[in-house]
Amino acid sequence: MFAVQATQSTTKAGLYEELAEQAQGLLAGERDRIANAANFASLVFNALPAINWCGFYFFDGTELVVGPFQGRPACVRIALGKGVCGTAAVEGKTQVVRDVLSFAGHIACDAASRSEIVVPLVDGGKLIGVWDVDSPELARFDDDDREGMERLCAIFLESLRG
Ligand code: SME
Repeated sequence: MFAVQATQSTTKAGLYEELAEQAQGLLAGERDRIANAANFASLVFNALPAINWCGFYFFDGTELVVGPFQGRPACVRIALGKGVCGTAAVEGKTQVVRDVLSFAGHIACDAASRSEIVVPLVDGGKLIGVWDVDSPELARFDDDDREGMERLCAIFLESLRG
């Protein structure tokens, strides 16, 4: 049985390095999208400091629909182009929002959220969904988080290919 290790690193890059290794181990050998998304969300939520929500929105062919997550209940459907999630999905580019109150069209699911990062999940040119992480701290996410989260998302997408 796979046991998630407590993280040891004190640097952000080191923390993502450890998380990437743990994600590899946790998802290895399983291709089920819901199972891997659920474990991935739990891994990140319990490892990263100052986070109040993290989870998936999957593209159903029309819009984004909430998937496995950790945190308070969230809005279920987000249209492409709407909010931070819909913007990431349409632009195909990670959105790092230092202050959600100054992002036009931000969709507030948890009033505690102050900053947010959303990574688009694209596989072979096909939109799978987005990975969304919220923080109650202003400017919680920076370029190191973008790199780290994009790497983690690549591991998630790779696991689905088996
Ligand atoms: N804030 C997101 C909506 C999803 S929640 O944060 C869980 C957005 O603006 O797209």
